[in-house]
Parts: sequence; C-alpha cells; structure tokens
Amino acid sequence: MHLTHLAKLTLCFSGLSSGVNALVAPTEVYNGGFNQSGDTDVRLRIATGGAGQSGLVKVLADAFIQSSVANGSAPFRIGWVLSDTTFTIKNLQSGEADLGISYIASAEKVAVESGIIDSKIYYLFRDHFLIVGPPENPAGINSSMDVTTLFAKLFNAADQNNATTALPTRFLSRYDKSATNLKESQLWLDIGQVPWGAPYSTWYHQYIAFPIQALTTAITLKEYTLTDRGTLLSLPNSVFIQGEVFKAGQDDENDPLLNRGRLLLGKKAQNETLARQFAEWSVGPQGQSVVTGFKKNGTQLYSGAP
Ligand SMILES: *[C@@H]1O[C@H](CO)[C@@H](O)[C@H](O)[C@H]1NC(C)=O
Ligand SMILES: *[C@@H]1O[C@H](CO)[C@@H](O)[C@H](O)[C@H]1NC(C)=O
Ligand SMILES: *[C@@H]1O[C@H](CO)[C@@H](O)[C@H](O)[C@H]1NC(C)=O
Ligand SMILES: *[C@@H]1O[C@H](CO)[C@@H](O)[C@H](O)[C@H]1NC(C)=O
Ligand SMILES: *[C@@H]1O[C@H](CO)[C@@H](O)[C@H](O)[C@H]1NC(C)=O
Ligand SMILES: *[C@@H]1O[C@H](CO)[C@@H](O)[C@H](O)[C@H]1NC(C)=O
Repeated sequence: MHLTHLAKLTLCFSGLSSGVNALVAPTEVYNGGFNQSGDTDVRLRIATGGAGQSGLVKVLADAFIQSSVANGSAPFRIGWVLSDTTFTIKNLQSGEADLGISYIASAEKVAVESGIIDSKIYYLFRDHFLIVGPPENPAGINSSMDVTTLFAKLFNAADQNNATTALPTRFLSRYDKSATNLKESQLWLDIGQVPWGAPYSTWYHQYIAFPIQALTTAITLKEYTLTDRGTLLSLPNSVFIQGEVFKAGQDDENDPLLNRGRLLLGKKAQNETLARQFAEWSVGPQGQSVVTGFKKNGTQLYSGAP
C-alpha cells in the first residue's frame, strides 16, 4: 500500500500530461459492514463505470467480504475505481486496479494479447441497452423493428428535418468513448452512416456528460438516445415519465442491444490469489445470486451470466 501511494505521488508530479488518470483513488470503499476495519488496507480494487454507479460493485463487494469473514478471513475493504471501458483496461495496465468490468470483447482480446490481463475472462452479468426518445416519436420507430431498421428509420427521419417539421428528429450521443457511445457508433456504421463525420449532421447532438445527465438532457430536449436500464431506473420520476422506451435489449446472445459485463483480472493485481477468489466467487452461485437479486426502484437490473 505504501509503495502504491508513493507511486501515485510520483505520477502526480511527473505525469500530469500523460492524459492517463494517474491519481486514481477509489471513488468508494466498501467494508461489508465491518466498520472496525475502517483503517485496514483496501485489498482489492475494481475498476468500472456503470456497474459501480448502479451499486452492483458495492453489493458484490459487501457480500464477498461477508462470505470471506464467515470463512475465517479477517475483515478487509474493497475499493471501486470509477472508469469507462478504455480506462478500465488502462487501470489494469498501470496496476491501479486489480479487477475491471468491461463491455467490449475486442478490447478485452487485445488486452489479453498484450499481456495486460489474464486470459481467463469471467462473464459476470448481462445488462441491456435501451433506445429511448420522445413519446411524440417523430421518426415513427417501434419495438417490432429490428435495431438496424430502427436506426435506418431514425436516420431517414432526421435527414428530412426541415424548417416546417413540428418536432425534428434528433439524436443525442454520449460522444465519450463509453461502451454506450461505442455501441451507438456501431449501430450507425451498421447502416452505412457516420453522422459525426463531415459534412456534420446537425441533428446529431454530441453531449459529453455522465449517463444520468445525458439521458435527462435527451428526454428534456425530446431527442432520441441510447442508454441502459440502470441509467433509466436511476432517473427522478418527473423525468422518467417524459421519455419512452422504444426498444430494449433482451438476454438473447445475438441481440445487438445485449450488453455483456465481464470481469477482467489484471496481470499487475496486488494479490492475484484474492483477485481470482473474487472473480471465481462472483461467477459462482453466491455471486450470481447477488447479481440477480440486485434491484433498482424495485426492478431487477441485471440478468446473471448465461
Ligand atoms: C456501520 O456504519 C454504518 C454507517 O456509518 C452504520 O449505519 C452502522 O450501524 C454501523 N454498523 C456497526 C455494526 O457499527
Ligand atoms: C466460503 O466457503 C463456502 C463454503 O465452502 C464457499 O461456498 C464460499 O464461496 C466461500 N466464500 C468465499 C468468499 O470464498
Ligand atoms: C411497427 O412499424 C412497422 C413498420 O412501419 C409496422 O408494420 C408495424 O405494424 C409497427 N408495429 C407496431 C406494434 O406498431
Ligand atoms: C418538411 O418535412 C415534413 C415532414 O417532417 C414534410 O411533410 C414536408 O413536405 C417537408 N417540407 C419541405 C419543404 O421539404
Ligand atoms: C419507480 O417505481 C415507482 C413505483 O413502482 C414508479 O411509479 C416509478 O415510475 C418508478 N421510477 C422509475 C424511475 O423507474
Ligand atoms: C493474498 O490473499 C490471500 C487470500 O485472501 C491471502 O491468504 C494472502 O495472505 C494474501 N497475500 C498477501 C501478500 O497479502
């Protein structure tokens, strides 16, 4: 731990221009309810974005600590390091996190080949993307369209916006290299369109913000957007009721709106034994029942791994 702190300090003075988030302190630290362990080491650090913000990392960490203590371990703490997919892998590469949750299979493959992560990848949960928009639905999309048809409809409607269109079709993009932004970009590419390319599509609203803010803005401005179930269920009800879900990802492995959350084990993990124990436990029956039992506003958020 002391070495880690020193290393961070060094980075702080020498590496500010690197662009990498060098000063990574856990965003939150969990103790499984063992408050007396307040000043013990954070023995495991898990990097991720959405699954940390939703609270899944917390419930998994608390349950793992409790199970470990029940099995005779001394109480310890687990930290959540806030990051997005690209950064998750950077956090593992630098050793700032031991485990990371990722959603992009191709990036995981590269990370294995580059020796950044262990070749064993743990399928932890299934999340779901949602296509949300204004109830007026100027593009005329619906849930029986496949995702490609739906994006083509969105594009055509937006392309025909003109000064007399009562409610123009617009799309809000996270534009931040998050898993959601990558998925949305892929869906445009799949219909042969690059709305962020030149000449720039004026209906394509690049709005870089945290997921809940971005979704709130899309709903308030009556724009379509891509989001996920956790973000939708985190909205204040006053905003939630103004939007409409036109299409929701299902558990089918072939559904383009399925979002697979996988746990990666960094080669620089502080304690590989403990990190692997967490990974094995979380994809086992106890961890999986924590995943499926996790609710937001009374609704189950994630499906377990298949
Ligand atoms: C631990 O701390 C939490 C929050 O500070 C508190 O609600 C809880 O009662 C404490 N538990 C014990 C066993 O002290
Ligand atoms: C504790 O032991 C039980 C019984 O062997 C096992 O099912 C469980 O996974 C263990 N917990 C941890 C955190 O390893
Ligand atoms: C969805 O749109 C398609 C194409 O316009 C239409 O054929 C279908 O009836 C619509 N389905 C629903 C449930 O509105
Ligand atoms: C403008 O768009 C509307 C549909 O939004 C269409 O009915 C109308 O014909 C268009 N007007 C012009 C001048 O293209
Ligand atoms: C939360 O649950 C309540 C009661 O079921 C419901 O009325 C409300 O719309 C839900 N809010 C969100 C954001 O899902
Ligand atoms: C690593 O974690 C394992 C399992 O919790 C523990 O037995 C071991 O003492 C730890 N090693 C170090 C160096 O802390």
